[in-house]
Amino acid sequence: MPEVKVMFTREEVGRAVERLATDIRRDYRGKNPLLVGILKGSFVLLADLVRSLNIPLELDFAKLSSYGCATETSGKVRVLYRLTTPVKGRHVIVIEDIIDTGLTVSCFLEALRRRKPASLKLCALLEKPARRRTPITIDYLGFSVPDKFIVGYGLDCDEKYRYLPDVCYLEEVCGAP
Ligand code: IMP
Ligand code: MG
Repeated sequence: MPEVKVMFTREEVGRAVERLATDIRRDYRGKNPLLVGILKGSFVLLADLVRSLNIPLELDFAKLSSYGCATETSGKVRVLYRLTTPVKGRHVIVIEDIIDTGLTVSCFLEALRRRKPASLKLCALLEKPARRRTPITIDYLGFSVPDKFIVGYGLDCDEKYRYLPDVCYLEEVCGAP
């Protein structure tokens, strides 16, 4: 069994979310932005972010899959659930838990861009710059992290650990029987 270690405490995560909200509020006040959460991993971030933002906005969700049950991206992105809100002319902010290779979200951003939003930005709590395989601009970013497998605060490993309040990482325990 891997060991679960804390990378950022809930207080540190809370301060990062406050900072993201301050930046987004400054840029979107009066614009009624459409926040699109990528399921399932972004659900905790989105819930904290909208309450911190405390400005009129709308929400929708999309569900993408490039992983199956593996911990490595396959590079093939499937849209499992599509947002239903019309995007044309809207100020759209895509909310992701973590940008790893960047392949999943870059395909999704391309598809949204074709639907002619007034603007399109990306907000992510975490990114792993060492693993990027496609150039991506993250307009609002919480933390850059090293190449470890992250769980907690909505992120899972095979559907486990999403409930953890801190951002944690999994460490393989060497020499375990
Ligand atoms: P990408 O296409 O490689 O950027 O994969 C992005 C998606 O993979 C994220 O939205 C996460 O759902 C998942 N993912 C990537 N790295 C991690 C991790 O360290 N922990 C949990 N999920 C991850
Ligand atoms: Mg995700």
